[in-house]
Amino acid sequence: MKIAILPGDGIGVEIVAQAVRVMGVLDLPFETEHALVGGAAYEAHGHPLPESTLKLAQAADAVLFGAVGDWKYDTLERSLRPEQAILGLRKHLGLFANFRPAICYEQLTHASSLKPELVAGLDILIIRELTGDIYFGQPRGRRRAPDGAFAGAEEAFDTMRYSRPEIERIAHTAFQAAQKRSKRLTSVDKANVLETFQFWKDVVIEVHAEYPDVALDHMYVDNAAMQLVRAPKKFDVIVTGNMFGDILSDEAAMLTGSIGMLPSASLNAAGQGLYEPSHGSAPDIAGKDLANPLATILSVAMMLRFSLDQTAAADRIDAAVQRVLASGLRTADIWSEGTRKVGTRAMGDAVVAAIKTTTTKG
Ligand code: IPM
Ligand code: MG
Repeated sequence: MKIAILPGDGIGVEIVAQAVRVMGVLDLPFETEHALVGGAAYEAHGHPLPESTLKLAQAADAVLFGAVGDWKYDTLERSLRPEQAILGLRKHLGLFANFRPAICYEQLTHASSLKPELVAGLDILIIRELTGDIYFGQPRGRRRAPDGAFAGAEEAFDTMRYSRPEIERIAHTAFQAAQKRSKRLTSVDKANVLETFQFWKDVVIEVHAEYPDVALDHMYVDNAAMQLVRAPKKFDVIVTGNMFGDILSDEAAMLTGSIGMLPSASLNAAGQGLYEPSHGSAPDIAGKDLANPLATILSVAMMLRFSLDQTAAADRIDAAVQRVLASGLRTADIWSEGTRKVGTRAMGDAVVAAIKTTTTKG
């Protein structure tokens, strides 16, 4: 099992280090190799996604990714910014299906900004198409002047587009995911205004014919944003395009009050995947032993489940995290009165210890 480890920038380095320690106590034959990505790679090699990093990722069975980005790169030419690393990996590896679960952990219900009764037991899955849409259309802008302004430009635009095969494959992925859950799928679009999303809706309806056991409904994205804060538990699986999925998945993550807890998976047609926490690089707290490593540790569990066919090991990680939370340990982001505040490393220690005790129990 070849795993490319790409910690990236900011807190990415610390949280991935803890996830790698967890991998180390699972008694599995991992072959890991680290590489630079994002701002760190730009500093060292002049590019956020160096050829060597891309090659390593392509040759791996799975990629464990931390986070990229820092405000200090905001004035760089777009093609050199840290974000291009993750976009490049998605495109080059064909990672079209992004799974973003939003789960409200029982012990953390009060951490949500919504009333506890609205989020208690929340467990929804957003499936975001990841290699099409306006993200990968044709950008049109003028060269940026060094001060960041568009020198002499009169307009800028980005084209939104989806092809039939792109919609079909994400629809199949979503229907199959729904079949394994409550058999309900909501497709989110903007068919009332955008041709791209009328087409999206039409193709999703066509694919639905192959999944008669799944109940499909459609919702406009603005309404979906509203329903997510009004009655989030009404949703089960949501499928949507790249841009709407970017926005709705942040909204859904925040409902749980614990973005520091949420893993994600980005898969290609071969089952190869990139696994990363749903949160960003948080440069403001980087290097301070404050970040929550659990989203990255839970991303390892997703990796074991989706790409490596190691369900038992994945279950051990999930159970260990539950036990650590039940024992009252919390990093600052999920801390509340009556629980014990710990740092990144101590949280990693606790998960490692909990996994070791589940091992002896078999
Ligand atoms: C995400 C992030 C990325 C995106 C950025 C970092 C390019 O916001 O993974 O949701 O927009 O897809
Ligand atoms: Mg995002």
